Amino acid sequence: KNIALVAGGYSGEYVISVQSAAVIETNLDSNRYNVYKIIVTRENWLHTTTDGKVYPVDKNDFTLTIDGAKVKFDAVFIGIHGTPGEDGRLQGYFEMLNIPFTSCGMVTSAITFNKSYCNKIVAALNVVNVSKSMHVFSNQPYDAAQILQQLRLPVFVKPAEGGSSIGMSKVNEAAALQPAIEKAFKEDTQVLIEEFIKGRELTIGLYEVNGVLTVLPITEVVSSKEFFDYEAKYTPGVSNEITPAQVGEEVTQLVQHTASRLYRLLNCRGIVRIDFIWEEATGKLFFLEANTMPGQSENSLVPQQVRAAGKTLQDFYGELVENCLQ
Ligand code: DAL
Ligand code: MG
Repeated sequence: KNIALVAGGYSGEYVISVQSAAVIETNLDSNRYNVYKIIVTRENWLHTTTDGKVYPVDKNDFTLTIDGAKVKFDAVFIGIHGTPGEDGRLQGYFEMLNIPFTSCGMVTSAITFNKSYCNKIVAALNVVNVSKSMHVFSNQPYDAAQILQQLRLPVFVKPAEGGSSIGMSKVNEAAALQPAIEKAFKEDTQVLIEEFIKGRELTIGLYEVNGVLTVLPITEVVSSKEFFDYEAKYTPGVSNEITPAQVGEEVTQLVQHTASRLYRLLNCRGIVRIDFIWEEATGKLFFLEANTMPGQSENSLVPQQVRAAGKTLQDFYGELVENCLQ
């Protein structure tokens, strides 16, 4: 089978995507799959062979022509975080071409990628608590003081369509809100401001194969920084990631059950990682976000969870590919 592994993308998560794709490529069984890595940038979509020859993708039908022979793909492994691989754009393109791919469809990818709209949808589903938040747009006036009449400090300020905490801030005092919003607007035209929930950060990967949903062990993230920022995410030792999380049976079940319900209700496909905050004082679980292309780099959480489940990455990525081929 010919598998295209697309990586790169147009966002600040390009570097992480390339790292994720390296792990995926190494662990896709070369006896079963011919893997063609394709790096997607705004300028071009390119496959580079081991001997350094570069081939552009024909975007009309997503094929390569190598030495005069056309290479078509049986499936695509989407390895792009951020736009255009996690937000529905490539998903819509492959859906139009009728080429199967490993992750969520266009609509699910789009609605989960925008943290602000996703919060509203998840709140309406009534299966988990969602922190109080506001959504501001760069082309519409907003007033930081008014926002703080609606929301209680501290708040998190996040580009609505971002990832890996790029452009994100935790705001502890009123004067810091405006600069934090401006910083987030450098990454995106929409910004989410949400109340900070004091609690333990728990995250869980889930994926479906042949109709059977597998929930991976939960990870607790304990960051030594103010929050689980870019450095804490990708620098070994800056955060402590405990898998399986030591939170007791009841909380484990609550997280697994809630994540499974969300996976179904959001119509997910492939591996999705859902992040939560468990407010220990009240026992309440809060939704943080759903990642439809969770990081697969050496330091990312899902590979840790797969290993903790006693599975090899080769079996795991193989299952994702086989599931989408059906
Ligand atoms: N956005 C990063 C890659 C993650 O969710 O793991
Ligand atoms: Mg994310």
